[in-house]
Amino acid sequence: MTATDSSSVPSAPPRGVVLHPSKGKVIAITSGKGGVGKTFLSANLAAALTRRGLRVLVLDADLGLANLDVVLNLYPKLTLHDVFTGKCTLEEALVQAPGGFTVLLAGSGMVEYSRLTPEVREDFLRLIGEVVPRFDVVLLDTGAGISDVVLFALSLASEVLLVATPEPTSLTDAYATIKVLATQQQRQLIRLVVNQAARPGDGRAITQQLQTVLNRFVGSGKGPGVRLVHMGDIPIDPAVKEAVMRRQLLLVHTPGCPAALAVGQIAGRLVDTVLRAHAAV
Ligand SMILES: Nc1ncnc2c1ncn2[C@@H]1O[C@H](COP(=O)(O)OP(=O)(O)OP(=O)(O)O)[C@@H](O)[C@H]1O
Ligand SMILES: [Mg+2]
Repeated sequence: MTATDSSSVPSAPPRGVVLHPSKGKVIAITSGKGGVGKTFLSANLAAALTRRGLRVLVLDADLGLANLDVVLNLYPKLTLHDVFTGKCTLEEALVQAPGGFTVLLAGSGMVEYSRLTPEVREDFLRLIGEVVPRFDVVLLDTGAGISDVVLFALSLASEVLLVATPEPTSLTDAYATIKVLATQQQRQLIRLVVNQAARPGDGRAITQQLQTVLNRFVGSGKGPGVRLVHMGDIPIDPAVKEAVMRRQLLLVHTPGCPAALAVGQIAGRLVDTVLRAHAAV
């Protein structure tokens, strides 16, 4: 059984088993270091993919410290927590976001989701099994780092989009995340977005540097190793902060600004590489 089966409810796979739903269906947006732009990218990428004719769900997978609702100016009455505890149906918790996509919000301060218990695993797996057939693409806005909750969320994704900034601390944390994904989850391909880039070409150079270190220290000898694919750079742009302060999508607030154009290009690359079968354009 896979997570894409809609006919029955999936149960938790044995420890170490990794689910990879069909190509491009579930894309996790993650980072090693926090605060690098995952939620900003998740929301705006969702808007850009919606414009390309895809039915998009963004799932706030940063259980416990969720803030997708803040960025989108939403005040959810029902959250993932209510779905998990049976207080409402999945349908009731799905919210229409300003960009025309759907979100499933997590609610903040849920300490019970800070640890990966068997219940959290079961709830999450069942949820993924239920949402995957209903949307063309499901974006998981995960927490930062390599906690077991984050790694579990990543194990549910068919693609991992890792966000890093050019700061050395962000890059060392990105390296640590890639290493864990390659060695514990046998990921062979990880897509990299360099956010808050200072100069054009930053991202390509950073991808090459990381790849060189990975080739030397991860997967050498046994196994195919891990390949990084550079999906694009997003420049530092004051319009991003302005949009966040106004709790608007950047693609709505300032659609022509450099960061918005960059997100649009990344959406195009995702469609070309992993979502072609689902896109209308
Ligand atoms: N390209 C950019 N240019 C300028 N500022 C940016 C850019 N990207 C992100 N930021 C700033 O970084 C802040 C943090 O972004 P965001 O909340 O998306 O990060 P995150 O990775 O989701 O954080 P967390 O790890 O806490 O979930 C934004 O509110 C914005 O002010
Ligand atoms: Mg976030």
